[in-house]
Amino acid sequence: MRENLYLIGFMGSGKSTVAKELQKKHGMELVEMDDRIAEEAGMSIPEIFETKGEAAFRSMETELLREIGRGENTVISCGGGVPMREENVRLMKESGKIVLLTAKPETILERVKNDVNRPLLKGRKNTEGIAGLMEQRRPAYEAASDFSVPVDGRSAAEIAEEILGRM
Ligand code: S3P
Repeated sequence: MRENLYLIGFMGSGKSTVAKELQKKHGMELVEMDDRIAEEAGMSIPEIFETKGEAAFRSMETELLREIGRGENTVISCGGGVPMREENVRLMKESGKIVLLTAKPETILERVKNDVNRPLLKGRKNTEGIAGLMEQRRPAYEAASDFSVPVDGRSAAEIAEEILGRM
């Protein structure tokens, strides 16, 4: 595959795990956006939110997408907020396909309940809180994506196969 493959979706939808699967079995380069941003900033995501603010973090995401867009054959595990900026969606569309991973709020809760690295989940670690933010984001997620893949009860290998089969 020459084009890039952008995985989008809610926190905990499995973007990182599926991206690693595509890297290992299908020889794609991998960019984990949160890790790259934390590495370049020299601090964790919660520290960036605390000391620089969310707006600064969002600009770092856009900056990183510009850089990623110059490469190819890369699978990108996007931060959950990436599709919320039109410019980000444009940058992704220009250099690859966008695949949305969808999951039930219950599945997300199970995966993130012990997580301390996602500032936006503070005070939302229950199905209602997760479902609420998910609904707010759904229109943008759906508009950005070329197609979507449900993940509930499925392995990363299965999901990766489905994605490649539909590319
Ligand atoms: C965010 C999702 C996180 C991270 C940050 C904000 C969001 O990434 O970028 O905490 O706005 O949904 P993951 O989706 O990889 O958890």
